Amino acid sequence: MNRKGTIFLSLVLILSMLALAACGGGEQVTSDTSEEKDMVVNLYTDRHYDTDEELYKLFTEETGIKVNVLKDTSDVLIEKLNVEGADTEADLLIATDAGRLFRAKDLGLFDTITSETVINNIEPNLRDIDNSWTALTVRARVLAYSLDRVDPADLSTYEALAEDAYAGKILVRSSTNIYNQSLMASIIAINGEDAAKEWAAGVLTNMARNPQGNDRAQATAVVAGEGDVAIMNTYYVGKMLNSEDAEEVKVAESIGVFFPNQDTTGTHINVSGIGITKHAKNKDNAVKFVEFMTSEAAQSVFAQANYEYPANKSVEPSDLLKSWGEFKAQDINLVELGKYNQRAVEIFNEVGWE
Ligand code: FE2
Repeated sequence: MNRKGTIFLSLVLILSMLALAACGGGEQVTSDTSEEKDMVVNLYTDRHYDTDEELYKLFTEETGIKVNVLKDTSDVLIEKLNVEGADTEADLLIATDAGRLFRAKDLGLFDTITSETVINNIEPNLRDIDNSWTALTVRARVLAYSLDRVDPADLSTYEALAEDAYAGKILVRSSTNIYNQSLMASIIAINGEDAAKEWAAGVLTNMARNPQGNDRAQATAVVAGEGDVAIMNTYYVGKMLNSEDAEEVKVAESIGVFFPNQDTTGTHINVSGIGITKHAKNKDNAVKFVEFMTSEAAQSVFAQANYEYPANKSVEPSDLLKSWGEFKAQDINLVELGKYNQRAVEIFNEVGWE
């Protein structure tokens, strides 16, 4: 077991002992049958935001159920769950990107969410088709353009980025990044493999530089004049605008946000989502947690944090996101992003998009 795993288990143990001490410790209580054990839920998550912590606290206040959290990257957590099998302590997994949620489902790591509350909270396109997981937050992969050099009226679609007009102007990160893989998967789902491959080759030809850096680095490069249009996730624009780093704020103030494909197939969206684990020992608590996290109350907290769109559509996004306007999202089931992930990676390799 890795160090974090050990820390997680130790935490669970310490909490059980504390609970035991709190009730006087007069009786021998086994961890499997104790009342205390019934009052916890164990969560693996790749999210690391203060708001999430705030939500766990609110959940505990409302239900009395303590939330034990293990944080790591989703790839590590999915692997961990897979290796732990039936012995896992985890009742819930939160992972970012539908492609990863698809992989966790594919590995048989999720139970089915049957709660009517959850199903009513979240629209079908933001849930797995078999309800193995549900989205908690939504982000769009948009075009960030130079306010100085680009007239947004000239921007249109992802597809257009492969045209000659964009030669030397496109900034985008490496294809090893799952956000790009999911964007590509969506283009395969919508336009077919051949068109997707042609598109990737065209965008590669039009790149201002070899793919490098993260989403924020693309925006920075736009403002530095290396290229005119960056492909990036909406929440990074929000983070930069509200950054403590004055340079980042300046960059974010010098770019515009454009939602591509509004007259055609819609802007690519992705999610971070949650599923109840197949071998959850605190299943009832896990269901309550998912119900809570998709509720209007919790979703309004999400909406004000991290600049993501709430997955519950009765909840309004933050003022900043509203200022960018409403947009039409790709009308595909997010399952497609996982289904075509491998093909997306292959196409990137075939055309040489590093
Ligand atoms: Fe991110």
